[in-house]
Amino acid sequence: MDGGIPLNGEITVAGAKNVALKACVAAILTDELVVIHNVPQIRDVEWMLEVVKSLGITITRNENTIKLKSSGNLLSRVPMEYGARLRTSAMVIGPLLARTGEAKIPNPGGCRIGARPIDRHIEGLKQMGAVIEYNPEDGYFYARAKKLEGVVIDFAKNTHTGTETMILAAVLAKGTTVLKNAAAEVEVDDLIKLLNGMGAKIRRVNDREIVIDGVKKLHGTEFRIMPDRNEEVTWAIAAAVSSGEVIVRDSRLEYLGAFIKPFVQAGGRVEKIDETTTKYSRERRDIQSVDIITAPYPGFMTDWQAPWAVLMTQANGVSTIHETVFESRFSYVGELKKMGAMIDFYDPVVTNPESYYNFNWTDRVDDYHQGIRISGPIALHNAVVTIDDLRAGATLILAALTATGESYIHGAEQVDRGYEKIEVRLRRLGARIRRVYE
Ligand code: EPZ
Repeated sequence: MDGGIPLNGEITVAGAKNVALKACVAAILTDELVVIHNVPQIRDVEWMLEVVKSLGITITRNENTIKLKSSGNLLSRVPMEYGARLRTSAMVIGPLLARTGEAKIPNPGGCRIGARPIDRHIEGLKQMGAVIEYNPEDGYFYARAKKLEGVVIDFAKNTHTGTETMILAAVLAKGTTVLKNAAAEVEVDDLIKLLNGMGAKIRRVNDREIVIDGVKKLHGTEFRIMPDRNEEVTWAIAAAVSSGEVIVRDSRLEYLGAFIKPFVQAGGRVEKIDETTTKYSRERRDIQSVDIITAPYPGFMTDWQAPWAVLMTQANGVSTIHETVFESRFSYVGELKKMGAMIDFYDPVVTNPESYYNFNWTDRVDDYHQGIRISGPIALHNAVVTIDDLRAGATLILAALTATGESYIHGAEQVDRGYEKIEVRLRRLGARIRRVYE
């Protein structure tokens, strides 16, 4: 792809990947038809549909709408190859226990951003009465439960999908489940809306507490997924780094507070056209360096820090990114340096890292660093780079848009995991980008 060309035009944010995946899992909870609209056409959704199909769910799909219907006799084992490639597939454990009383799921693989175990999910389910053993021989969790019981679970640390796993397990459990220190991500609230539409009784009593009253049965529903916050941030940064002007449809500014503030501080321009349309561009020629610390919602999302790094390569002076959610989310740094970026790692001083960081401190590997320093402005040049995590993928595409010359990006299929038809949509904004098959 060729860089240095301003992006101009309109783009519509696709449905949120991190809701679509859980909507597929929620369909296991009923034998009735579940219809989901605004589903992004991305590989992670394809893979999740494979997982639920392997359990006996019938799928029909038309563009961005999928219909899911359980055949009545659910299987309870996820094939290793499906579980290994999509970490989120482990989330079927709750609904399988609720519907069949057993679940056999492979230890999750998914993105390569750190260890990403599911200990908080397993612990929570055990508290609800599930018996779960892990067999290191075959890499499977073997779970069974006569009837899950409502409990009070107080998460030691924030967990987005851990909170969702407990919700998916509690909706058909006996009695009431209370989740304390529950995740506040808006995608969790979208899943709650979907489940309540199926007859569940879930309410968020305050920012960090969710109460679920178990019910006997859930019925079918029709639901439209919210737009993807990570996509919108990617398009906003694309506009700024290319000195273009991008009008974003299905925008949700109300969910992006932690991004808009530093974006405007850096020199980005945000114009609200109407309730769901926002125009992103650049206020002025020079970009200001702004330090970022990632955090669970409502903080600066960990998924936004990679594209943000590209913007900071164009900023005057030194900026830092301190990643506090995952223990290894800087895989893109080496690739950006091939394009001329001046980035080095550093270890932010933190008084009590065990409780400060959102990941399990014991999962850390020695040479990991939680901080990077970016010096700018640097004119990035073209390079041959490789992608190995989907948000890093979008980042390298943004960097190539900024760089002079033609860049070659290996691993586009990683980007396809989270972004629908990315090159087609960027071409509509004037980007000179094409997909070549190796
Ligand atoms: C979800 O990941 C999202 N994935 C991530 O998006 C997102 O970055 C993250 O939440 C933060 O919002 C999906 O929804 C499918 P966590 P998740 O549980 O649930 C550790 C993307 O690109 N942890 O809040 O894995 C974990 O390893 C993806 O769309 C445990 O150690 O995030 C991580 O370091 C990337 N044990 C930290 O806690 C557990 O049982 C936060 O994890 C659970 C989590």
